[in-house]
Amino acid sequence: MPDRNVPNLEPKSVDSIDPSEGQVTVADHALDDPAHLLIDEASEPIDSVIVLDFGSQYSQLITRRVREANVYSELVPHDVPYERIQTLKPKGLILSGGPASVYEPGAPQLPDWIWDSGLPVLGICYGMQLIANGLGGRVAPADRREYGPAELEIVGESPLFADLPGRLDVWMSHGDHVDALPEGFDLVARSANAPVAAIARGNVAGIQFHPEVVHTPLGARVIENFLTRMCGCDQNWTPESFVDASIADIREKVGSKRVLLGLSGGVDSSVAAALIHRAIGDQLTPVFVNNGLLRQGEPELVREVFARNFGMKLVYADAGDGFLGRLAGVTDPEEKRKIIGDEFVRVFEREAASHGPFEILAQGTLYPDVIESTTADTKAAAKIKTHHNVGGLPEDLQFELLEPLRFLFKDEVRAVGTALGLPDEVVWRQPFPGPGLAVRLLGSVTDEDLDLLRRADAIVREEIENAGLAQEIWQFFAVLLPVHSTGVMGDYRTYAKVCAIRAVTSQDAMTADWARIPYDILALISNRIVNEVRGINRVVYDISSKPPATIEWE
Ligand code: XMP
Repeated sequence: MPDRNVPNLEPKSVDSIDPSEGQVTVADHALDDPAHLLIDEASEPIDSVIVLDFGSQYSQLITRRVREANVYSELVPHDVPYERIQTLKPKGLILSGGPASVYEPGAPQLPDWIWDSGLPVLGICYGMQLIANGLGGRVAPADRREYGPAELEIVGESPLFADLPGRLDVWMSHGDHVDALPEGFDLVARSANAPVAAIARGNVAGIQFHPEVVHTPLGARVIENFLTRMCGCDQNWTPESFVDASIADIREKVGSKRVLLGLSGGVDSSVAAALIHRAIGDQLTPVFVNNGLLRQGEPELVREVFARNFGMKLVYADAGDGFLGRLAGVTDPEEKRKIIGDEFVRVFEREAASHGPFEILAQGTLYPDVIESTTADTKAAAKIKTHHNVGGLPEDLQFELLEPLRFLFKDEVRAVGTALGLPDEVVWRQPFPGPGLAVRLLGSVTDEDLDLLRRADAIVREEIENAGLAQEIWQFFAVLLPVHSTGVMGDYRTYAKVCAIRAVTSQDAMTADWARIPYDILALISNRIVNEVRGINRVVYDISSKPPATIEWE
């Protein structure tokens, strides 16, 4: 099975809204200011390093690597105003790579304030070329472009390579190279095709290779050296420090106001609920809408976790009949989505009105949804499914927004969830679409088919969990097909429904591959479904990747 921690080497997607949770993004109402995460009067300041984005597909990954070293980091566009940087009070800057050539007209350049700031700087690939070009060196097209693995030979002194071997396997991806060093810089490393592969002068360093990708096995150590030895950072960005800083911040922002939150039971809204509840207790009202399209045991799990374990006053809207009534006879997937989205808004508004008034709406928006990037062009992509409308709320709702997770990546949200005491079954929940089982039950939605699907799906989940595969498979579930096939059970002919098993590995749901589940596990699942779920007599395994298929069948 692929390792989920392998960085995504495909062009990055900024449109990676968590598909399991509907989001309204009314950014101008947002109550966020990242500085709060860093400076909290009561506790030690959390050190940070900012990544300036020059358009590399790996820019987000650099930010992640810095955070993995327990130093807070944000990705900002390369032309961000200096005032924003000053608010963030970083202890250093990293210049990302990028697709341009520094000598081309119109290529993004170093902001003027960089050298005045006096901050330590690490330039990666294009970032190093900018340093060289900006300080009087020369950058030119390389005779031989270098894409892929290379061996780096350390030939000079720099804290960047402290305690590392003299030769390192690294990952290169460049067409230009530095062919004359800028004034006062030393050559620190070279490779066969990059005679200048690392340079340094005082607290400024440049490297031609990519330390952020897993193909540079000791890259994390290079980044850590920059953070600790060149920037003097304390490695104090931890889930616990985030929780402490956020609680103080949420209290200050909310004051005595009341906060409403739509709880889907998904990771993000669950962690947001637990965090906000810890900060303001019953000033938070979480509303959990049961749309009648949830999986087996789900409504009970969500209520149990939040009401019993956390003592939260959960508003539970048992709204299944309304949803199923409006879905009767509807077979078109997009039509189903529209109905479910619309009904959700109605139920939510009704519940908000009867438990309100509320001044603030809380959401579990994540960092990848809000990063402004220099290469954010995916928003213009063709619409395949209207995912993100489902569960989303109309933009004219008059609320301030509270989004305490908007500076976190998904894995950090999970770590925060664990730090808050949420159980693994919530923290490690697989993404689940807003329209729920309605898009896994092809054709019209009926109570009988929902029952078959729930039972088959519970078996798929149980066996994959028992086999210890749950964390390495991105999503796994059953799909009920609207066809009958002939079978034989005992001595009798059967004519019953077909169930498909869908299990995929993925980094971000944008692309996916079918999971290579061992045959004996598939055999066990098939056997159990056919024996235990009367009404299904045939099980097939879906071996399509995305693209050209999609993860869900509808
Ligand atoms: P597809 O099927 O497009 O799914 O490959 C990609 C990811 O999105 C989830 N998904 C949805 N999530 N509302 C959602 O909130 C939807 O209508 C919806 N449709 C698909 C799917 O589970 C996968 O994670």
